Amino acid sequence: MHNVVLIPGDGIGPEITESVKRVLHASGAKINWIECEAGEGTFKRTGNPIPDETIQAIEKYRVALKGPLTTPVGAGFRSINVALRQQFDLYSNIRPAKSLPNIDSPFREVNIVLFRENTQGLYIGKEHWVDDEKKHAESIAVVTRDASEKIIRAAFEYAKKYNRKKLTLVHKANILKLTTGLFLEIGKEIATDYPEVEFEDLIVDNMAMQMVLKPSQFDVIVTTNLFGDILSDLASGLVGGLGVTGAANIGDDAAMFEAVHGSAPDIAGQGLANPTALLFSALMMLDYLGESRISEKIRAAVYTVLQDYKTECTKDIGGEGTTESYTNAICRILED
Ligand code: NAI
Ligand code: MG
Repeated sequence: MHNVVLIPGDGIGPEITESVKRVLHASGAKINWIECEAGEGTFKRTGNPIPDETIQAIEKYRVALKGPLTTPVGAGFRSINVALRQQFDLYSNIRPAKSLPNIDSPFREVNIVLFRENTQGLYIGKEHWVDDEKKHAESIAVVTRDASEKIIRAAFEYAKKYNRKKLTLVHKANILKLTTGLFLEIGKEIATDYPEVEFEDLIVDNMAMQMVLKPSQFDVIVTTNLFGDILSDLASGLVGGLGVTGAANIGDDAAMFEAVHGSAPDIAGQGLANPTALLFSALMMLDYLGESRISEKIRAAVYTVLQDYKTECTKDIGGEGTTESYTNAICRILED
């Protein structure tokens, strides 16, 4: 039995976490869910978006599955997602984007795994007004050798372990010469330890264009926090959208699994949310827990539903069904 902290989150979070719980149960995975709360809903009720009990539960159990959390735009409390990643030093944000069967997309052979530095860059939250009239704002980006080495090494280790051919480091070292320049320099150093993995570097704007033009040329990608955030949504768009891409936040002694997408307030509570993204995050969690046999079984069930029962899938991927009908279909296959 594995103990896992479950944070349903905001917006579509409760709907998709319920779906994932049902699928994992149907698969026979032995999970003891420790339900905790966080997010905007929690903030509105208690004045604190991340209660101490939630932090303590993650400290104790070290593995969490998290629904999306709404973060106010502009003013308001700081992103809890970012805070949790920093607090537990979950330095690797791993975001795979892989073509799926029977999903409408101009691309059929996408198989990208993006490693995003998860604790620093422009996301450290150090912004200030320069003047009293609030006409001039500044933001600080932090890049350290230690954190860069950890994420770049994690990406190379992954490439080596899974026999991936190429690693592309994405930067903007022509303009941000010190911060992303350092990241690039460290990448070039570490690449010499992995002669079996082809190494290249690309400037982020060109990378965005290349990914849209011919995504099959990319394999493993490693980049800084902001670029990774943007390019991982882009990669999701190549394989069917944010409804189908899972992610992991992994540190040396804790891990938190969540979808790439946010709380999708535009579709919350309507049964329209695609649970696949959070489910694929849960499959990464099962792999992390040493339960790859079960994660493969669930992935196969999802592929069968996409292939043979498309009408029961959610509308974002061309189905005619709801979160529930899609979940039912996956559970039915697993229980057969
Ligand atoms: P979003 O990812 O929530 O939604 C973008 C678009 O994708 C929307 O049209 C939405 O309906 C669609 N979408 C997302 N997930 C879907 C799913 N599972 N099934 C079907 N369609 C789906 O991004 P948005 O609207 O920019 O952000 C909403 C809120 O989420 C914000 O407060 C933001 O801060 C937060 N957020 C939280 C994240 C997290 O908890 N890790 C990550 C990204 C955003
Ligand atoms: Mg994002």
